[in-house]
Amino acid sequence: MYSYSDFDAAFVRARVGEFRDQVARRLDGRLSEEEFKPLRLMNGLYLQLHAYMLRVAIPYGTLNARQMRQLAYIADRWDKGYGHFTTRQNVQFNWPRLMDVPDMLDALADVGMHAIQTSGNCIRNVTADHFAGAAADEIADPRPVAELLRQWSTDHPEFQFLPRKFKIAVTGSPNDRAVTRAHDIGLRMVLRDGQPGFEVVVGGGLGRTPMIGKVLAEYVPEDDLLPYLEAILAVYNQHGRRDNKYKARIKILVHEEGLDSLRDRVAAEFLHRKAQFAGVPPAIAGRIADGFRPPAFRPGPVPEVRDPVLRAFIDSNVTAHRRDDHAIVTVSLKGIGATPGDATAEQMRVLAGLAETYSHDELRISHEQNIILPHVRRADLAAVHGALHKAGLATANAGLISDIIACPGMDYCALATARSIPVAQAIGQAFADLDAQRNIGPLKIKISGCINACGHHHVGHIGILGLEKAGVESYQITLGGDGTENAAIGERLGPGFAHDEIVPAVERLIGAYLDLRLGADETFLMTCRRLGAAPFRAAVYGEGRRNAA
Ligand code: HEM
Ligand code: SF4
Repeated sequence: MYSYSDFDAAFVRARVGEFRDQVARRLDGRLSEEEFKPLRLMNGLYLQLHAYMLRVAIPYGTLNARQMRQLAYIADRWDKGYGHFTTRQNVQFNWPRLMDVPDMLDALADVGMHAIQTSGNCIRNVTADHFAGAAADEIADPRPVAELLRQWSTDHPEFQFLPRKFKIAVTGSPNDRAVTRAHDIGLRMVLRDGQPGFEVVVGGGLGRTPMIGKVLAEYVPEDDLLPYLEAILAVYNQHGRRDNKYKARIKILVHEEGLDSLRDRVAAEFLHRKAQFAGVPPAIAGRIADGFRPPAFRPGPVPEVRDPVLRAFIDSNVTAHRRDDHAIVTVSLKGIGATPGDATAEQMRVLAGLAETYSHDELRISHEQNIILPHVRRADLAAVHGALHKAGLATANAGLISDIIACPGMDYCALATARSIPVAQAIGQAFADLDAQRNIGPLKIKISGCINACGHHHVGHIGILGLEKAGVESYQITLGGDGTENAAIGERLGPGFAHDEIVPAVERLIGAYLDLRLGADETFLMTCRRLGAAPFRAAVYGEGRRNAA
């Protein structure tokens, strides 16, 4: 796994020292909250409904056991004993005291982690396919490129004050698990004449104006990637709107200016940037390449699985690895009634131990708010499952109806208009029976507590958006969204539902699907695509209209 260079380590440590001084000045009143705000945001510290919130980056979602244990230590020592894994491969601590934050950042620096550029109008944590380096369907591991982008974007002097935040995601597989089309820039590895390069998608984003990214370049060779991205960022920096923060993302520039015009500007800027670009220094490129060499896999048998409980777990939570004798294990953080994405310190320690024993010291955070053990020998699956079961982490629901993404909503977030976590919990409880979930099949429900769409509701097969109407929560349903390579924004079904009506509405949707599907092989999304929203609308509002607001 890649580890910090001496330069990285010194940079991060110096930044903690600076912030310690800023916090001291805030605590003794020399800095007002207004003066302090831009300083804390440069270090991932938000002020939320009840407390500060510290957002820590997990670049391309990769962690080792030592780092996971340190997150557990931080959760126990300075927070309430848990952390919240987010849809952008960050971990958030919801209850830190301001005076403790510099110590938390020092503890992170001890294990090569930080909270820099996890907020503010800069290039945020670069995310990647959580199965990177392990997936059977991958062209190549996209993380060396993601790491290069991390180094390039961190403290990049030109791009610290962009019109708005900027999110980049990378995938090395044709099956997009990184939601690249809902990012400001999505990079999808493609081969041309046997050479890997990237399709560059631009202007995707969710929030109040959801848009699916468009292809700006079909193929950019790896060697040209940095100057090409610099060109996009430079054009955006110059031409993105700064007069209205709701129109400031690059998606609005693409929309208002048109893709062709943007492409021309980027092409002109690229020539200029490329002429000045001497290439990635070989020492840096070599260090990165070394950091992502595949682990020393030990061949093993592929045992036949007879235990039905293990079989069910494998069916939902295990994915094909590039090696037949290995597997990728998804550990669901969506136990029935759990808060999506939360892990207790004890669970983090269990996962760290499992990573060391069974997964070459590697863990991943998925944008679906689960944790991945990427390199488990098939022969060890029974042991891993047994250990997960003991820790309450063996819920066999990955990709099923109770594997719900939800943002923090009204329980934590200052911008929320409705609760989202309790809705996720209630849906999980309504569909607790795993056999029923398996019968329903692959289904992605995503819930946001306001139009900012942190819970990705626009790309949920069923999306739920919590709003406030005349002082009460009202939940709007969207249907048919998709965050994969066939990305689509869901269609709004109709009027919203009160809090206690949203679960029955979802139950009616599922009932309609089970009636309408051609067979068990036709997934919920396939049925939506075949029939459109109309029959679902009829099912949901037929008997529910009385209560629809
Ligand atoms: C609790 C504090 C949070 C605040 C104040 C916050 C704020 C926002 C805002 C204002 C936007 C809309 C930005 C725009 O459209 O320009 C946004 C988008 C987003 N946030 Fe959050 N967020 C928070 C937590 C989270 C969490 C916990 C997650 C993951 C679970 C998350 C993931 C995202 C994603 C994926 C988007 C949409 C993608 C996009 O930027 O277009 N955020 N957030
Ligand atoms: S979607 Fe809204 S409520 Fe949910 S975390 Fe984002 S800003 Fe907060």
